[in-house]
Amino acid sequence: MKDYIIHHNWKIIEEGFNPEYNRISESIFSIGNGKMGQRANFEENYSGDSLNGTYVAGIYYPDKTRVGWWKNGYPEYFAKIINSTNWIGIRVKINGEELDLAKVKVLSFTRELDMQNGLLSRRFVAEMKNGNQVEVSSHRFVSITATEIGAIRYTVKALNYSGEIQVIPFLDGDVENEDSNYDEKFWVEISRAVGGNEGYLTVETLKTQFQLCTGMWFQLIKNGEKVDSKITNRNKEKYVEVSQKVEVSEGDEITVEKFSSTVSSLYYKNEELVEKAKEAIDLAADAGFDVLFESHKDAWLEKWETSDIIIEGDVAAQQGIRFNIFQLNQTYSGEDERLNIGPKGFTGEKYGGVTYWDTEAYCLPFYLSTAPQKVSRNLLVYRHKHLQKAIENAEKLGFTNGAALYPMVTINGEECHNEWEITFEEIHRNGAIAYAVYDYVNYTGDKEYLASYGFEVLLGISRFWSQRVNWSADKKKYVMLGVTGPNEYENNVNNNFHTSYMAVWTLKYTLEVIAYLKTEFPFLYEEMVTKWKFNEIQETEKWQDIINNMYFPRDEKRGIYLQQDGFLDKDLTPVSELAESDRPINQKWSWDRILRAPYIKQADTLQSIYLFQENFSAKEIKAHFDFYEPLTVHESSLSPCVHSILAAKIGYQEKSYEMYLRTARLDLDDYNNDTEDGLHITSMGGTWMSFVMGLGGMRVVNGELTFNPFLPDKWKSYSFRIDFGGAHLKVTKEGQYFVIENHSDCDVNALVWGDKVSIKGNDSVRLRKVAKHIL
Ligand code: BGC
Repeated sequence: MKDYIIHHNWKIIEEGFNPEYNRISESIFSIGNGKMGQRANFEENYSGDSLNGTYVAGIYYPDKTRVGWWKNGYPEYFAKIINSTNWIGIRVKINGEELDLAKVKVLSFTRELDMQNGLLSRRFVAEMKNGNQVEVSSHRFVSITATEIGAIRYTVKALNYSGEIQVIPFLDGDVENEDSNYDEKFWVEISRAVGGNEGYLTVETLKTQFQLCTGMWFQLIKNGEKVDSKITNRNKEKYVEVSQKVEVSEGDEITVEKFSSTVSSLYYKNEELVEKAKEAIDLAADAGFDVLFESHKDAWLEKWETSDIIIEGDVAAQQGIRFNIFQLNQTYSGEDERLNIGPKGFTGEKYGGVTYWDTEAYCLPFYLSTAPQKVSRNLLVYRHKHLQKAIENAEKLGFTNGAALYPMVTINGEECHNEWEITFEEIHRNGAIAYAVYDYVNYTGDKEYLASYGFEVLLGISRFWSQRVNWSADKKKYVMLGVTGPNEYENNVNNNFHTSYMAVWTLKYTLEVIAYLKTEFPFLYEEMVTKWKFNEIQETEKWQDIINNMYFPRDEKRGIYLQQDGFLDKDLTPVSELAESDRPINQKWSWDRILRAPYIKQADTLQSIYLFQENFSAKEIKAHFDFYEPLTVHESSLSPCVHSILAAKIGYQEKSYEMYLRTARLDLDDYNNDTEDGLHITSMGGTWMSFVMGLGGMRVVNGELTFNPFLPDKWKSYSFRIDFGGAHLKVTKEGQYFVIENHSDCDVNALVWGDKVSIKGNDSVRLRKVAKHIL
């Protein structure tokens, strides 16, 4: 836990130079625009500890798998969205001495991330070895309107000397990943060109052969006037630089404006790349920093208009929730269905920047409620595009007849994960992907999606489940053997409740979807029956039999489902009785001890109870929560959000708030001591969920919007915004009151504390919680 970030409603601020926290700050202050992003590395040279990271969405390298004991079915590679050409670099020499904050005296230092406007800034005063002092201020953004453009304004003021400043803006494609499995470099050079104040560098990934061309342009300004001194340039393999010198007197200010363009073979033909990079650079140079920034800023304001959450009375909480929203919006913008959301987004190497079940389970709800419909639709279409690969993936494991097993980790549909207990057994991910189809259709009402994409995915997953279970002659039930649930601290268990529940639910939902398609899209349905060789009667009979006869481990005495067979044999000592020195158990205990212990890494049985709250009475939810929460160590950041939502549901408001707080400032306060690896982007979706669905008690039940809000004691009020049913709503909880403002022309109905309300277009309702609403 760290406490060095200054609390502010809209800004993330670091005061003072903290080299020991540099990797953490590089993660926290990351910027991105959905297409690319980067850690908050310094523009000038820095020889201190740092993780360089510039990432371009969709550009990956298949890093050859490294495992101790190879198992049939393991993937050959782990896809990584890799560190790519560094375009931010501007070396600075003061009277010939390199400005490097690890080597000079830093007299003051402030780093700021303005979340409202998407701007990263730094200001510092440094004293060089010969006593020359300079004040530097830098501003940087990656445009969310012109998504190929990055812009930097970097100013150096000579505080106490006269002499020479040399600036050397450069592009460096000779970069590597710290996590490279075999210490390989992933890029080769295709071309480089440098002349005048421009430079271009094209590199290509080995094996995948993605080409990336980065362009740069710069100008040097002294006291408001463009400097015309000679520009020289230099280049070597995977590197180009331009350089200009200027004489300054004490008090003079020089400014480098540097623009970059990043274009790739994902969008253009290889032979067009340099030209496209140049076009983008020309546009940026013509527009200039201020104009580019204005449109970027306006676009951010629009994003905040639909996604902001306001908390009155607690600045730390306000900063925390906005940080989560800001980072989610920086990571995924939903324009390209080939892109997705890595658990660390563009902020670090861990998890390879590629896709996990996190997207469907924790991120989708945020985009569904706060972004245009196409954004969440594209997240779903991403999986539809991978259906064939999911079928092949299942075939490799011995499944047949179009059964689909989506990968645990992927970028292009192929499995990348290589631990047997996860790759082969953590199959609940298939359930999350099926549930996402339901979630999307339930929230948006876009049932047409089922016909064009959804059914095919559901069919593949249902076929998988129907083959993955087996009939137990002993139990006279279907069972699901050898699985790993979301709680990865248990492996190879039998009858994991969550996995089996998701399987049965998928089968039921697919049957509903078939009935719907037969009525509404009969011709299309027939085409799909033929395309997928779907033997409807025979296959659905088996599904129905599984639905009717699935085995779920249960403890009747406690009135709860068990996480898996044999769970009650464990020593059920609660987490609260563990010594502090034993925590986190994943760092302190052997794996063997973890597997035998009752401690739950992340919501598991509670995960399906959260998804299907309507299928459980309040008493049942309470019984499960009371049993599992005391055994849960929440060592995955994806855990507290689910507990927070369920705690709110059963009236445990303090607990709900406590769990919410655990997620909200997870990275800002480096709660898990791992922010240096990158931010927990997907768990930020969970934070949003625990706010809106936990504190706000929002849920869409059978297409109907419902709220059961409460206000944490420490806050004066909160409000959040959602899009629903064509309307844009701002809801506010203040004291006993709950206000819904409808900022649209569409009328909307909702259920608040169980009462029906109608909110006409451009109108609002103000409701008060009364005794009958209290549990
Ligand atoms: C969690 C998984 C998650 C992965 C990536 C793991 O620690 O247990 O559920 O998919 O991290 O976020």
